[in-house]
Amino acid sequence: MECNKIPEVILNSGHRMPLIAMGTVGDPLPPPEQLISIYIDAIAIGYRHFDTASIYDTEEPLGKAVAKALELGLINNRDELFITSKLWCTDAHHDLVLPALKETLRKLDLSYVDLYLIHWPIRVTKGSKYLESLNENILPFDINATWKGMEECCELGLAKSIGVSNFSCVKLKKILDQATIPPAVNQVELNISWQQEKLLEFCRANGVHISAWSPLGSHGSYWGSHKVLENPVLQNIASAKEKSVAQVFIYIYPFDAHKFVLEFVFKFLMYSSDWFKMDI
Ligand SMILES: NC(=O)c1ccc[n+]([C@@H]2O[C@H](COP(=O)([O-])OP(=O)(O)OC[C@H]3O[C@@H](n4cnc5c(N)ncnc54)[C@H](OP(=O)(O)O)[C@@H]3O)[C@@H](O)[C@H]2O)c1
Repeated sequence: MECNKIPEVILNSGHRMPLIAMGTVGDPLPPPEQLISIYIDAIAIGYRHFDTASIYDTEEPLGKAVAKALELGLINNRDELFITSKLWCTDAHHDLVLPALKETLRKLDLSYVDLYLIHWPIRVTKGSKYLESLNENILPFDINATWKGMEECCELGLAKSIGVSNFSCVKLKKILDQATIPPAVNQVELNISWQQEKLLEFCRANGVHISAWSPLGSHGSYWGSHKVLENPVLQNIASAKEKSVAQVFIYIYPFDAHKFVLEFVFKFLMYSSDWFKMDI
């Protein structure tokens, strides 16, 4: 099958990042064997960027899929992939960052991640998993000390680029004011009904790449909404052009300026060259 080249952005770290990633969050998740097979199929059809996190429970199956893709010759070496993972809130403390990344690398069976993000700007007690219960378990969070731990991961070559997720302008500025290595990425919820213009402006001005989670509004998940896929303007364009709303969305949004990464879970792996051919 012909592989489509996904556009890339050069991050402030100097590393290239494919602008479309396959997201790996899911609740409930399919069994590991099915996940491995989904990720292998994704590599076969052209995905090169995968977005995982220690809290998603997808690092191990993703690592197995990477190993299998190498074995099958779908990729020639690991460097052809871009793997993002994230530090969970229980480990958002200077001394815990490096051990957490080492555990992530053990699960992925890789020697480095391409991008390592602080998942949320909070620290919670060990064992806290679900966001709803985090409030009861909040601990003091030292942003700059945690960021120092992230920088150490980068200096050791265990993360090629480092960044944050779900950070506001104020919290990002705290890091930028003291960082030796500035965050390369801020991954935030961003879609047509949640456009985050002020944050975009701030990140643009400071060379921090914004990537979008839930670009389709996370249709179908308990944290999502129908506001994107049921947007009447997008629906009208989609029906006039005989395309899906998701295709219209991907077309009108970000490619011109390389502003965001769109992260799509293509459930049926429907990515084909036709996706990017549309005249609106
Ligand atoms: N950093 C963070 O805090 C954070 C938070 C959330 C997510 N993320 C990352 O971002 C990724 C994407 O976010 P998300 O999964 O929440 O939301 P999303 O990509 O906006 O929505 C995913 C859902 O959209 C539907 N969908 C996907 N492709 C479609 C298509 N071509 N046509 C119609 N519907 C389509 C599917 O719903 P159905 O299953 O109903 O078909 C799928 O489950 C995650 O997998 C994760 O890696 C990061």
